Amino acid sequence: MLSQASQLLTNDHAALDNVLSQLWTAMDSGDVARSHAQLDLFWARLAVHIRAEHLHLFPTILGRLTSNSADPECSPTFSDAEAGIEQLRADHDFFMHELAQAIGSLRDLKATEPHAIVDGIRRVRDTVLEIEKRLIVHNEIEENQVYCWVRTILNAPDQADLATRINAELANRPPRFSETIWSNR
Ligand SMILES: [Fe+2]
Ligand SMILES: [Fe+2]
Repeated sequence: MLSQASQLLTNDHAALDNVLSQLWTAMDSGDVARSHAQLDLFWARLAVHIRAEHLHLFPTILGRLTSNSADPECSPTFSDAEAGIEQLRADHDFFMHELAQAIGSLRDLKATEPHAIVDGIRRVRDTVLEIEKRLIVHNEIEENQVYCWVRTILNAPDQADLATRINAELANRPPRFSETIWSNR
C-alpha cells in the first residue's frame, strides 16, 4: 500500500495520461488551435507534477537517507537512491525541453498555410510519441520504486507532512487555466 503522498502522485500520473489521450484526439482531428490548447494543458500539468517531485519528494527522500539510513533491509542506499533520482531528473529535463519545442511548433503552425499543417502536426506527433514512450517507463520506475520508498524511509508524521506539501503543490494551478479545464472535467 502506498503512502498518501505517493497515492496523490500516482493519481496525478493517471490524470496526466487522460490529458495526453485528449491531446492525441486533438492532433488526430488536425485542429491546430485545439491541439495547441491541449498540449499547453499537458505541458503545464506535467510541469506542476515535476515541481512537486523536485521541491518535495526527492529532497525529502534524499535528506532522510542522508541523516537516517537505519533500516537497510527495506530502504535503498543513499547512492542508489541518488542515482535513481538523477535519472528521473534527466527524464524531467527531457520532457520539459521537448514539450517547449512542440508548443513552439504548434504556435507557429497557427499562422501557417494550410498545406504545411499536415507535415507540421506530423512532426509534433513524433515528438509527443517519444515523450509518451519515455514517460511510461519513467512513471513505472517512480510507482514501483521511488514512491514506495516514502513508506519505508519516512515515519508517519513526516509522511503526513509530505502529503500536505505535495497536495498544495499539485493544486498550484497556473492562472491562465480555469479550474474546470485544469481538472479536465
Ligand atoms: Fe517524475
Ligand atoms: Fe511522477
